[in-house]
Amino acid sequence: MPTAILKWFFWTPHILSSHTANMFEIKSTLPADKPAAYAELATLLQGLLTGETDFIANAANMAALIFNALPELNWAGFYRLVEGELVLGPFQGQPACVRLQLGKGVCGTAAQQRQTVLVPDVHAFPGHIACDAASRSEIVVPVIKDGRLLGVLDLDSPVLGRFDAADQAGLERLVAIFVGAVKI
Ligand code: SME
Repeated sequence: MPTAILKWFFWTPHILSSHTANMFEIKSTLPADKPAAYAELATLLQGLLTGETDFIANAANMAALIFNALPELNWAGFYRLVEGELVLGPFQGQPACVRLQLGKGVCGTAAQQRQTVLVPDVHAFPGHIACDAASRSEIVVPVIKDGRLLGVLDLDSPVLGRFDAADQAGLERLVAIFVGAVKI
């Protein structure tokens, strides 16, 4: 779908409702062909973010899109790097820990290493910070623009081993779209 149509598609609340219905279709197809589902999600995200540069607004919409599109998640959202700490940003899911230290937990590790951290079993990850006791696996993607760390995207699942290399590739692509849209 061309970007202009996608922009129009996201404009009005009643159309957004039918868009939500589309998200549930993506949910059911994801396990069968993850790369294809992520490609579709990337197109939707590009349309959603085009023309908007605000970090918070775009992070809020991206968290909502991911949480509603991907199956088996109990949390999806952002932490922003603020004065050397990761501070809770827009998210979907249960209320979460507000401040995380660099180098600590899954988020702090991904931020410090500037690399995606994929954790099949959070109980086996030393220093994992349990904001929601239901979480069993997690993936954290650093958000880096022009060499500057802006924060991280964090996804939690109640399912052991929920995330794999296809999720990592797909989510890194989504973060690249986000980074391309926001102004710093
Ligand atoms: N589990 C994360 C903390 C953030 S919550 O999952 C939302 C961590 O270990 O860094």
